[in-house]
Amino acid sequence: MFFDRPESGEVSILVHILIDSEIEREDPTEFEELALSAGAMPVDYITGSRKQPSSNYFVGTGKLEEIAAAVHAHKAELVLFNHALSPSQERNLEAHLECRVLDRTGLILDIFAQRARSHEGKLQVELAQLKHMSTRLKRGWAHLDRQKGGIGLRGAGETQLELDQRMIGQRIKSINKSLTKVRSQREQGRRSRQRAEVSTVSLVGYTNAGKSSLFNKVTSANTYAADQLFATLDSTLRKVNLPNFGQAIIADTVGFISHLPHQLVEAFRATLEETASANLLLHVVDAANDLNIEFMQQVNLVLKEIGAKDVPQLEVFNKIDLIPGCEPHLQRDEKGKPWRVWVSAKTGAGLDLLQESISELLAGTMVSETLELSPQNARLRSKLYENGFVQTEVVDERGYYQLGVKLPLLDFTRIIEDGNAVALNQGIAKRKNQRSESISRST
Ligand code: GTP
Repeated sequence: MFFDRPESGEVSILVHILIDSEIEREDPTEFEELALSAGAMPVDYITGSRKQPSSNYFVGTGKLEEIAAAVHAHKAELVLFNHALSPSQERNLEAHLECRVLDRTGLILDIFAQRARSHEGKLQVELAQLKHMSTRLKRGWAHLDRQKGGIGLRGAGETQLELDQRMIGQRIKSINKSLTKVRSQREQGRRSRQRAEVSTVSLVGYTNAGKSSLFNKVTSANTYAADQLFATLDSTLRKVNLPNFGQAIIADTVGFISHLPHQLVEAFRATLEETASANLLLHVVDAANDLNIEFMQQVNLVLKEIGAKDVPQLEVFNKIDLIPGCEPHLQRDEKGKPWRVWVSAKTGAGLDLLQESISELLAGTMVSETLELSPQNARLRSKLYENGFVQTEVVDERGYYQLGVKLPLLDFTRIIEDGNAVALNQGIAKRKNQRSESISRST
């Protein structure tokens, strides 16, 4: 947009250099996956090692020539570095290779730009891109200014630079303004959902694991007609009606990537933090990917960073259609709770198991009881039916309803405390509510 940079394309050369002094090394295999995720077509992978990055080109002159030869041989349109490059290194490399160069941050920003789904997500990525670009813009033009120095040209570059900087600055300002508005709407939505005590299930997982495919599959078969409370939900939140449980919100999130560039973690902090307030996380994993255990560790690191490590998790091993002989099944942990469910978003295999497991985990605090309602409480009775909580019903000679119900402890407690029903069975729930029960029985 603002630069005279070589055109980009898909035919790409990947470069990964082992730097002795680097403590946190990037994974070369994961890099290839990232490039593929971004839609690149890698044709060559150049590796090497160095004590320190060179300040001019990151790589040494020998490696630079090797990359140049590969670019030439494959007619490559893009060189991707699995490292953070300084703006001047990026510029020098582009000038020498006559080819577009992108560093790891640029690549990840590109993936996020392609994948951002919600309005807020799109704004966040654009903001991060503009910020990344503005540092490059400054220095990029500074070197052109020097080249342009001469009679009649002096100052022209500077004016252009100022103009471009102002345009970027204005755009950043306007994005920040929109973001503030979108965030406050989201907060409002979240608060009303919390008030209504609707459980939220958040999908998390490494990029490309199949979160969106699962989200679409589970929610499209099962979406609820929009009502006022959810009218402001964006495209990444949907309401579903789960078997034997009732309503819940399913939230899709951005894909996680190891060593997320700092500006992206910052940009997505608000969205990610919402994950920390979910009742349950579905950790979606590509079951057919050899690196999946490492990816899971990376996702768990990000979850820790955003304060979501204690939210209960169900591991969803997706893409079993790619594993010969793998049937959908559920594994339970030593306490007997659903732990890992094997499914395919593509074929739909195992999605029933997935929904049942979600219900079971959300219902960890579910209560099975018989409630007695007086004939005056017909409204409560129909509400219980609406939510799918009623399993059996008997009407006694006095016209009282005896409802066999299964419902979240929270709802149960509220009903009992409001004095609108009496719990007839023995059980944890009843013990918890002895006080309210005796009050309502004595009236
Ligand atoms: P990000 O948006 O990057 O976080 O990705 P995601 O986790 O939302 O993955 P997405 O649903 O976009 O799926 C990634 C790729 O995997 C797509 O090409 C899907 O078609 C494919 N995919 C998803 N689920 C399955 C599956 O069950 N089987 C197979 N074979 N492919 C799948």
